[in-house]
Amino acid sequence: MLAVEEGSLMAAHRPVKPVGGAPPLFRRHPAKHHNLFRAGLFIRRHESNVAIARLTASEIAKTTFVRQIMRLTMNKRFYITTAIDYVNGQPHLGHAYEKIVADVIARSRRSLGQEVFFLTGLDEHGQKVQQAAIAEGKTPQAYCDELAADWQAFAKKLELTYDDFVRTTEPRHKQFVQAILSRLHDAGQFYKETYKGFYSTKEETFLTDKDRLPDGTFDPAYGEVIELEESNYWFKLKEHQPWLIDYIKTHPSFIAPDYRRNEVLGFLNNNELENLCISRPASRLNWGIPLPFDNDFVTYVWFDALVNYISIPAAHGDPTVVSALPSSLDTRHSSLELWPADIHVIGKDILKFHAVFWPIMLNVMGLPLPKQILVHGWWQKDGAKISKSTGNIVEPIAVINEWGLDAFRFYVLRELDIGPDGNWTDAGFQARYNAELANGLGNLVNRSLSMLKRYRNGVVPAKHDELAAPAAKAADETRASLQQNQLQAALHSIWLLVTRANQYVDQTKPFNLAKDPAQAKRLDEVLYNLAETCRVLAVLLWPFLPGTATKIYAQLGITGGPDKFAEAAWGGLKPDHKIGEPAPLFPRKET
Ligand code: MSP
Repeated sequence: MLAVEEGSLMAAHRPVKPVGGAPPLFRRHPAKHHNLFRAGLFIRRHESNVAIARLTASEIAKTTFVRQIMRLTMNKRFYITTAIDYVNGQPHLGHAYEKIVADVIARSRRSLGQEVFFLTGLDEHGQKVQQAAIAEGKTPQAYCDELAADWQAFAKKLELTYDDFVRTTEPRHKQFVQAILSRLHDAGQFYKETYKGFYSTKEETFLTDKDRLPDGTFDPAYGEVIELEESNYWFKLKEHQPWLIDYIKTHPSFIAPDYRRNEVLGFLNNNELENLCISRPASRLNWGIPLPFDNDFVTYVWFDALVNYISIPAAHGDPTVVSALPSSLDTRHSSLELWPADIHVIGKDILKFHAVFWPIMLNVMGLPLPKQILVHGWWQKDGAKISKSTGNIVEPIAVINEWGLDAFRFYVLRELDIGPDGNWTDAGFQARYNAELANGLGNLVNRSLSMLKRYRNGVVPAKHDELAAPAAKAADETRASLQQNQLQAALHSIWLLVTRANQYVDQTKPFNLAKDPAQAKRLDEVLYNLAETCRVLAVLLWPFLPGTATKIYAQLGITGGPDKFAEAAWGGLKPDHKIGEPAPLFPRKET
């Protein structure tokens, strides 16, 4: 079953005339630019000299052409996105988890040497926002602006290293959505029709008898379900179903983990897609983007929200996305090559929107699909749904204020792999804090550096390689895990090294060696191995626990940050280097 406990947007029955086999709407490389196109291909393969050599003098002379070349010679960035949160919701554990997952992937890729663009943001249109604003006596925009400030403060609190933060009420997004709508409308992808049936105001979605529970009622999650008759614009989704099935089958890594891919395929193989209603009458909902071809309607929220993944690249002058646009849009103040996205990180509840609607929308626009939709599970607390009304919540900000950001980041990533559902318990959080952070990593770093300070005045002894092999193993495994976005596995490998180094202290007993002058050389060896292991750990930990990793580097007296994975190679600490001041990283807490 597709994990969509909520409204089925494919549910409304529409009679559709099959169109079939239409070519992509927007050709990116008209024949008259054939030479240019070929040059672009070479440049994409980093064969710039060959590319330039293929051009005629008059082509080189054209400034627009030179601009295109400059764009094409840029390296495509690793582009990662999160779901954009409903602005009127409360930031909670689930939102924090998703954003931290994306942040760790973004930091990892940067550490591994890739150029990254990390996008997150807010979904601000829709009936619920309109109603809540009216209830508070505010304009929807003023209401969104206030809430957006809180969400942005939340993102800062999590130390997310995003490169852009989209708000769907921004002109740069709205104008792009309208441009796309115009193009699709001109290309005959929409039709207008009157619909009569059931509608969930809460979910802003149409329902059919297929959505009824066995007892004939609709799931309470839909809230009040009303009968409705109204005209709307519909997107011809249905005819693309065979193409989508084939695409997912032939692109095994498009949806991860595998069981989510199987769910989508199972859903598509067993259900006929319905066309998608892409408008809402402005008479009942005016907090949305007006349809450019009919101002009596606004755009359905998901059609608006999903487009953020390309509207922001367009705003940064992404050549692939810009080529699908009318030239009237001003997108040229900078030029970053972003699309297609490498990863869309999303929760399981919004899989259908991302794995069914979005690919079809992109295909019709003539744009390539994102490389991967990475689907995480849902957090519960104490085995029950997180719910503000029942008070069953985890307040990330309160946890961070009490325990520190890195303790929070560590727990959510160590506890829950990307995929299955997770369960937060305060006892589990505290147990991991004490065992793995305070007694594990914190104790290792503190005693290693304190002994170096006490016995050798903080001066690093000669290089010695006793822990080089386990450190290299941890680095190799961590790199491999990070390249596959296996964050929990990476932490597991890193903690094997923490445990190994703590055992090493217990076995070699440097505090005893220090009492015997005849053991001075052995003490030097042990102290080097410990300090160097702490340094390697800082580098491996950087994407996960950036604050802690930075502190370890500072305590080691190393200038610069631990943010380059290449520095995890053994032997970075040089003899005679003087370390800084040791200080506890994770103070033990009585609970
Ligand atoms: N606005 C839409 C997404 C549009 S993306 C083009 C939306 N917003 S949301 O605020 O409801 O959810 C944002 C993200 O948070 C989703 O990926 C959702 O799965 C995730 N989570 C919300 N609650 C969650 C948990 N309890 N646990 C984990 N993640 C959860 O949907």
